[in-house]
Amino acid sequence: MSAVRGALAGQVAIVTGAGRGIGHAVALALAREAATVVLAARTRQELAMAAATIRESGGTALAIPTDVTQDGAVEAMVEQAIAEFGRVDILVTAAGVASFGPVVGTKPSDWDAQLAVNLRAVMVSCRAVLPVMIRQHRGTIINIASVAAQRAIPGAAVYTATKAGVVGFSRVLAEELRAERVRVGVLVPGAVDTPLWDSIGSPPDRSRMLRPEDVARAAVLMAALPPGASLEELTLLPAGGIL
Ligand SMILES: NC(=O)c1ccc[n+]([C@@H]2O[C@H](COP(=O)([O-])OP(=O)(O)OC[C@H]3O[C@@H](n4cnc5c(N)ncnc54)[C@H](OP(=O)(O)O)[C@@H]3O)[C@@H](O)[C@H]2O)c1
Repeated sequence: MSAVRGALAGQVAIVTGAGRGIGHAVALALAREAATVVLAARTRQELAMAAATIRESGGTALAIPTDVTQDGAVEAMVEQAIAEFGRVDILVTAAGVASFGPVVGTKPSDWDAQLAVNLRAVMVSCRAVLPVMIRQHRGTIINIASVAAQRAIPGAAVYTATKAGVVGFSRVLAEELRAERVRVGVLVPGAVDTPLWDSIGSPPDRSRMLRPEDVARAAVLMAALPPGASLEELTLLPAGGIL
């Protein structure tokens, strides 16, 4: 029998937001590199389809329906992953939501969903994998931020605040974990053509955006670096396209 080939063979990855868009592409790309992949999001059907796609290609996948805004659900999902596979080497936090509009036209209660999913849930997800990664002296956390954290885009103040929060949180977490050999990086994409744009009125030209697979390649690059190197902030923009 031939050994499993792939840069991530023997590693277990958790991907939040794995049902569609960037998280879906990341999950498939990690599986293609022979990682075992745990897929988390709310929509069971999408998770089941993603897991089936991975298994049909010879990979190992486990779908765990999870609402990442529920702390207990995130902790239970990580515990289930450990019970099933014994370790967690990679976490990619791609669960996210976006809604745009000028601050003056919104109410504070309109901000809560974005803060809960894009910022708080990322923090909770990271915290949930820390004990196992520290025990292993090995782990790679990749948080998906956005170019909105770096550029001022009118109408995106709340979204930007969540993404800038993710960048700041990731930077500090990287320092806290450096001695533990747990890597924390933030992947900062420009606009990506995903279902996220379906509910946004008059979106920019989607044909000039990045593809989810482009972001997935960058995530694989971060995850597959040798253990002694850590790619901690990677900005990926559409060449010749729109931000
Ligand atoms: N698309 C872009 O242009 C772009 C650019 C830069 C950064 N990003 C960021 O990349 C990440 C992924 O975006 P995307 O474009 O791939 O979005 P998407 O196509 O809308 O997919 C979002 C994923 O997140 C999951 N999700 C949302 N709320 C959740 C919750 N409460 N619990 C668990 N999962 C949840 C969704 O599944 P369920 O709804 O089934 O739960 C879905 O699988 C987001 O953080 C986004 O801000 C996107």
